[in-house]
Amino acid sequence: MKILLADDDNSLRKVLLFKLKQKGYDVVAVADGQEALDELNKSQFDLLLSDIRMPKIDGIKLLEQSKFIQPDLKTILITAHASVPQAVAALKLGAFDYITKPFNDEELFVTIEKTFRIKRLENENKQLKGKLKAQNFLQNFVGISKPFKEMIKMVDKIADTDATVLISGASGTGKEVIAKSIHYKSRRSDKEFIAVNCAAIPKDLIESELFGHVKGAFTGAVRDKKGKFELADGGTLFLDEIGDLNIELQAKLLRVIQERIIDPVGSEFKKEVDVRLLAATNANLKRKVSKGDFREDLYYRLNVIPINIPSLNERKEDISILVQEFLKRFSKENDITVSSKLMDTLMSYSWPGNVRELENLIERMVILRKSKKLTEKDLPEDFGIIETITPVKDEAPESHLSFHEAEKKLIIDTLNKFAWNRTKSAKFLQIPRHVLIYRMKKYEIFYNKNE
Ligand SMILES: Nc1ncnc2c1ncn2[C@@H]1O[C@H](COP(=O)(O)OP(=O)(O)OP(=O)(O)O)[C@@H](O)[C@H]1O
Ligand SMILES: [Mg+2]
Repeated sequence: MKILLADDDNSLRKVLLFKLKQKGYDVVAVADGQEALDELNKSQFDLLLSDIRMPKIDGIKLLEQSKFIQPDLKTILITAHASVPQAVAALKLGAFDYITKPFNDEELFVTIEKTFRIKRLENENKQLKGKLKAQNFLQNFVGISKPFKEMIKMVDKIADTDATVLISGASGTGKEVIAKSIHYKSRRSDKEFIAVNCAAIPKDLIESELFGHVKGAFTGAVRDKKGKFELADGGTLFLDEIGDLNIELQAKLLRVIQERIIDPVGSEFKKEVDVRLLAATNANLKRKVSKGDFREDLYYRLNVIPINIPSLNERKEDISILVQEFLKRFSKENDITVSSKLMDTLMSYSWPGNVRELENLIERMVILRKSKKLTEKDLPEDFGIIETITPVKDEAPESHLSFHEAEKKLIIDTLNKFAWNRTKSAKFLQIPRHVLIYRMKKYEIFYNKNE
């Protein structure tokens, strides 16, 4: 437990510092409110022991401002006898306790110990809540296939280290859930898991988003704001889509990883942070490195432990248990079943959108279900359209085509292949004839030959 002592009375401060240290406490002593704020900005404390009357920033203002910097900090105010009403006001503002001058050592130590006892209880409570959350989360993360089990073995092995992990996998395979399960299986599980999507934040905001900024650092910075690194202090920071981080910030991130010190935008102070880093990419990061779009040194720093999530198509044994999990997730009564024929269809599909596609499909079917037993009839009309069309591989769509453009092109290609015979084309595409006709109308595909 670490104490910050603020008192402008030099002799009293020295005496207190000596006594507290003698008692075995870890103490930093400062002579005014501004210095105290600077210390709070630099490192974490458990208790602020502050005189009320100090020049410039007094104890009350210090108490108010400290809440923005370290919300969990407990404060004991020291007041002269005459200012008891002020101390009462301070309690209303969130001070934990106060002691009145002159006080004896016993009084002081009893008050401090009481504060620490409460603080420890609060910490324990938080830990228990964290454990519960972790348990709930891990219960809903399922899989029985060999590749899945091997991945989990790896997660178990590395969870409780502080090693940086680079998670790669196609879209929807579960990169974020793996990151969370690493966090929840680690000793950091009662602290924050903070996720940042590097691709989703505008370029000129990401630095302040990651490292924070101080009031006035730029137009619009109306007050100090903590960055994600600081919010994740003690916990885990998940940098999603890391491949999209611009080169300039890659350099800054590298420095943070090496020094574990952040530099908020516009601040004259650097801050120490204790953060476990996890990163995810669905692009081939190595290729980006060889093209010069991603720093090689940063790549090696992140890739200490690589975890690659296989696509769902490579672990089909997981489909049935995932279906059960999603049925549970989306129906409160948990009384919905799946016909064996439907399960066969789900097992033989290739799931280009991976687990997320399966999850979305089950959600949709649960919502629109006609009875408690889901059958193939509950499948959406366009289910599998991308896959069933893929046999026309020799003229595969260019990757820059949108889904609809690609679908239109493939329908035209197929129609051409079968001389615009819609029955044969529909059969080839494995979709009902009326669906093909509907789609042709939708895409304004006109044919010039009668069947
Ligand atoms: N093994 C699993 N058990 C239960 N749910 C899972 C599992 N794997 C993935 N999911 C679910 O699938 C969805 C997609 O997972 P997640 O968001 O982690 O994927 P992602 O790889 O980060 O995708 P993207 O690349 O699109 O960001 C989530 O809703 C998640 O809950
Ligand atoms: Mg993701």
